[in-house]
Amino acid sequence: MRYGVIGSPVAHSLSPVMQLAGWSELGVQAEYFRIEIPAGGLERAVPLLLQAGLDGWNCTLPHKGEMFRLSEVHSPSALQAQSVNTVQVVQGKIHGSSTDAEGWSRALREIWPNSLPPKRTLLLGCGGVGQTITRFLPSIGCSSLTLINRDPQRAEKLHHELTPLVGNRFPIHVLDWNMPNMTRALSETDLLIQATSLGLKEEDPLPVPKELLHPPLRVYDTIYRKGETLLVRVARERGCEAEDGLGMLLHQGALSLEIWSGKPAPLTTMRQALYQAAGRET
Ligand SMILES: NC(=O)c1ccc[n+]([C@@H]2O[C@H](COP(=O)([O-])OP(=O)(O)OC[C@H]3O[C@@H](n4cnc5c(N)ncnc54)[C@H](OP(=O)(O)O)[C@@H]3O)[C@@H](O)[C@H]2O)c1
Repeated sequence: MRYGVIGSPVAHSLSPVMQLAGWSELGVQAEYFRIEIPAGGLERAVPLLLQAGLDGWNCTLPHKGEMFRLSEVHSPSALQAQSVNTVQVVQGKIHGSSTDAEGWSRALREIWPNSLPPKRTLLLGCGGVGQTITRFLPSIGCSSLTLINRDPQRAEKLHHELTPLVGNRFPIHVLDWNMPNMTRALSETDLLIQATSLGLKEEDPLPVPKELLHPPLRVYDTIYRKGETLLVRVARERGCEAEDGLGMLLHQGALSLEIWSGKPAPLTTMRQALYQAAGRET
């Protein structure tokens, strides 16, 4: 069996170690490659992936939206997310699914079993991952949702898309990215979902001023890297419960493996391989 992760950059992706450990535990000989495909190159690359005999692939930044467009069959999860992070090739046809939101919710349930449904939720960053998570919120519920994005039009667009999905189940507010708004929003938030790409690079600043982080606020940073992200470290120092995106990566990857193999994923083995590669304890 032949799989891979496509994206740009993918050189540091931890998916291969986790997926190969999973396949090995299932007793299946499989390959899993990192495949760098630059932005704008997906349409030309897909026929080459099929020619190369890939049985499926994970799809990461910046291709999830384009992969949705190029998929020939969409699972309900892909339709809900309007994005594809898992492709399965079935009789030459591209079947697209999205395991990001379910992976995020499983990670959240695992660390904070009593926190779902999230109560007052603030989403910082309305890019691909932020959109996917919030489109999933109506099915698990929350009491209010605030959207803040550097580019305010992106937050407005997401608000517009969410409105028919959410109906009158909970209010959605959109705020501009500035200090007074962040201060107000964070003082009224139970769960901060950090979904900007700030924190990927060592030199990135904190996405929110540290003075605004107070318990009982919980912080879920979708970013993961070797060691803690700056936001998680500072939030913990300030007494907040905080977690990074490694658990989300694990669960979305395990769900991908279940789609490909049709079997329950060996979560313990995959977790051990992933956390070891990330230099973490399980
Ligand atoms: N843990 C996991 O399994 C998992 C899964 C998927 C993604 N992720 C993480 O989530 C992050 C976002 O992924 P994505 O697919 O949503 O990316 P994306 O679609 O490119 O969106 C990037 C987001 O980050 C914001 N942003 C970028 N630079 C910023 C800056 N300097 N200041 C403020 N905001 C900034 C963007 O705001 P603008 O709209 O203003 O540009 C946008 O909201 C990635 O870095 C990835 O590591 C983790």
